[in-house]
Amino acid sequence: MIEIKKLVKYFSVSWEKVSIFENTDFSLWDWEFIAIVGPSGSGKSTFLNILSWIEREYSGSVQLNWQELSKLSDAKMTRFRGQNISYIFQNFKLIENLTVKENIDLIVDLNKLERNFSTLEILKIVWLENKLNSYVYNLSGWESQRVAIARAFVWKTKLLLADEPTWALDVVNKKIVMELIVRLQQKIGNTIVLITHDDEVAQLAEKIYRVYEWKLELT
Ligand SMILES: Nc1ncnc2c1ncn2[C@@H]1O[C@H](COP(=O)(O)OP(=O)(O)O)[C@@H](O)[C@H]1O
Ligand SMILES: [Mg+2]
Repeated sequence: MIEIKKLVKYFSVSWEKVSIFENTDFSLWDWEFIAIVGPSGSGKSTFLNILSWIEREYSGSVQLNWQELSKLSDAKMTRFRGQNISYIFQNFKLIENLTVKENIDLIVDLNKLERNFSTLEILKIVWLENKLNSYVYNLSGWESQRVAIARAFVWKTKLLLADEPTWALDVVNKKIVMELIVRLQQKIGNTIVLITHDDEVAQLAEKIYRVYEWKLELT
């Protein structure tokens, strides 16, 4: 369970101090599937980075299972994140000069993670089994998007974060990705936070939050 209280996030833009999130409260229970919608620049990615402890400069309280995250050492946080959180990044963050198989296996092997699927099984689910040994630099954007999804769902993550997983897709492929995420979520039942500016995509989730006037509001 994640509990956030009175979150404020400041940036320094030239000489000015600007804030996004003003005393925002939020809680996320295990097994929830939620979406956060808001226009571009409203702070969605920043919020995801705070949730995943990549971004650690904020004021307020962020607790995981009643433990205050700011009290943990960097080393402990990095290890903990590796074993508990998977991320579908907006720009995929795949390693271009490794194969599809190597990209998927890397994090699983490095952190000795428990799998939901073998690499071939998950690639079959995303219709990419014929790309197992292809280098990522040879893939199209649409193929890379599905590799990024496969990598996030292949292991038993506690929390899956998806940042705009459909932003670069046409209408047909957007629908395919939405169905894929729902199918995998139903199969595995993990906690998902999905970020999007697209209301149709947000409808996938059980709960929808909206970023409004620098706060998160449940709709
Ligand atoms: N490190 C930073 N320094 C200054 N401004 C930032 C920084 N990170 C994000 N911002 C600003 O915060 C706002 C929210 O950014 P972001 O979280 O990326 O929004 P979204 O994902 O909703 O598009 C934007 O105006 C962005 O320019
Ligand atoms: Mg963003």
